[in-house]
Amino acid sequence: MEISVIGLGKLGAPLAAVLASKGHQVIGVDLNPDFVNKINQGIAPVPEPCLQELISTHQSRLKATLDYEEAILHSDVTFVIVPTPSDEEGLFTNQYLLKAVEQIGKAIAKKSAYHLVVITSTVIPGSTDGEIRQTLETTSTRKVGSQLGLCYNPEFIALGSVIRNMLYPDMILIGESDQKAGAILEEIYRTSCENNPPVKRMSLVNAELAKISINTFVTTKISYANMLSDLCDRLPGGDVNVVTEAIGLDSRIGTKYLKAAVAFGGPCFPRDNVALVAFAEKVGARADIAKATQEINAYQNERLLNLIQQQAPTKKIGILGLSYKPGTYVVEESQGIHLAHQLVEKGYELSVYDPMALDEARKFLSQKVQIATSVHDCLCQSDLVVILIPWPEFSLEITPHALGQTGSNKVIVDCWRILAQSEFSQLCQLVYLGYGQNQGASDTLALR
Ligand SMILES: NC(=O)c1ccc[n+]([C@@H]2O[C@H](COP(=O)([O-])OP(=O)(O)OC[C@H]3O[C@@H](n4cnc5c(N)ncnc54)[C@H](O)[C@@H]3O)[C@@H](O)[C@H]2O)c1
Repeated sequence: MEISVIGLGKLGAPLAAVLASKGHQVIGVDLNPDFVNKINQGIAPVPEPCLQELISTHQSRLKATLDYEEAILHSDVTFVIVPTPSDEEGLFTNQYLLKAVEQIGKAIAKKSAYHLVVITSTVIPGSTDGEIRQTLETTSTRKVGSQLGLCYNPEFIALGSVIRNMLYPDMILIGESDQKAGAILEEIYRTSCENNPPVKRMSLVNAELAKISINTFVTTKISYANMLSDLCDRLPGGDVNVVTEAIGLDSRIGTKYLKAAVAFGGPCFPRDNVALVAFAEKVGARADIAKATQEINAYQNERLLNLIQQQAPTKKIGILGLSYKPGTYVVEESQGIHLAHQLVEKGYELSVYDPMALDEARKFLSQKVQIATSVHDCLCQSDLVVILIPWPEFSLEITPHALGQTGSNKVIVDCWRILAQSEFSQLCQLVYLGYGQNQGASDTLALR
C-alpha cells in the first residue's frame, strides 16, 4: 500500500520506518526541512533505538517531502502525527492538526480515488468527528463516507521502545468513521504487527476517550504505589516494595506500573491526566481520581525535597538522572530538572549527570548547576547523591569499590533501590524511599 505520514518526529518517524519495513511505500511530510532531508539521506531524524537500522535497511521504500500534494497524490492512506500541545486549561489544542488536515484536504480535492485519513496525535474526545472532520470535508470538498475515510488511531508507545511497541502492541485501537475506513486500517496492522494483537474497533469518540483513559489509569497505579510509599516511610518496618509486589500478584491488579519511587514525568503522562480533568470539567463530569493522581504526583516532589533537606550533610548535592525515565534524552516534565530548580532555589550547590539527556537538560538548567562528566564525577562532587532515574548504567557503575573511591560519609538517596543495603550500608548512608528505616525514629517523622 502507498502510505503518507505527516509529522516525522518522535512518533511519526518510527511509524514511517516500521510501515516501510513491512513492504509499504511510505512518503513522509514535515515542516522541518532538516527532518525531510535526513529521511531522504537515510538518516534517523530523531534518536530512537532501532530506528536508524530500519531506515537504512528499507530506504528504498521511504522518502520525505515538504510538499503535501506530492505526498497525498502518491498515497491512499495518510497518518497525521503532529503535536497537539496543551492550552492554559490543560486541554489539547488542535491548531497544528487542523493546519495539516487543511493541506491534506486541499490535496485530496485534486484526486478522485478513495483516501483514508488517520489521526494518530492525541486529541480531546470529540475532536476527530468535530472540527477535524469539518476541516477535512470543507477543504477536500468531499463528505466522509464512500470516497473519504476518517479514523482515530493512537499509538501506545513508550519513548526508548517505540519500534518494539509498534511491532508488538498489546492491542490496536481504531476509531472509525465507517466499516470501510476501519477495515483498511485494520489490514495495515494485520500485516505490520508481529504478534497478531487484538484489534478494537469503535466510534471515533470512544477511541479518543479510551486513549487518554489508558494513560490516566496507568498513572493512577503509579500514584497509588507512591501513596503507599509515603505511608511506609512513616511505618517502622514498612517496606513498600514488599507491599506492592504482593498487591500486584492479585490478577485484578497486576504488577506493572505498581512500583513506588518518584513522581511520573515525561511528555504524555502528566499532560494526559491534566487533560482528562479539564475535559471532565468542560463537559460537567467529575474526574476525581485523575485529580487525586495529579495531587499525589505533585506531592512526590515535595516529599523528596523534604527528605533531601533533612539528610543533606552539606550544601553539595548530586542528581543522577535528568531524563524523565531511562533510555531517552527527553526531559519534558522531567523530575530531575524540577528537583534541580528547587535545590538551586534553596541555595544548594548542584552537580548533575545523565547518560543521554545532558545536552537537552542544559537548555533548562541554571548556569550555576555543574554538569558532571560521569557518574563517578557526580559522586566525587557531592556529599548527598540522589539516584532519581534507574538508568542501568548507575547500578553497573556504582559498585562498592567505585563508591569507596569517591570520598567518605556520603548519603545516597536511592529512589528506585538499585543499590543493595547489604553491599553499601557500611560504605555510605543509603536511604530508600518507602522504607520504614528513613522514618523509624521520631526525629525523622518531625521532618514532614
Ligand atoms: N512522543 C510520545 O511519546 C507520544 C506518545 C503517544 C502520543 N503522542 C502524540 O503524538 C503526537 C506527536 O508527538 P511527537 O512526540 O511525535 O511530536 P514531535 O514534536 O516529536 O514531532 C512532531 C513533528 O510534526 C511536525 N509538524 C508540526 N506541524 C506540522 C504540519 N502542519 N505538517 C507537517 N509536519 C508538522 C514537527 O515539525 C515535528 O517534526 C502528539 O499529539 C503527542 O501527544 C506522542
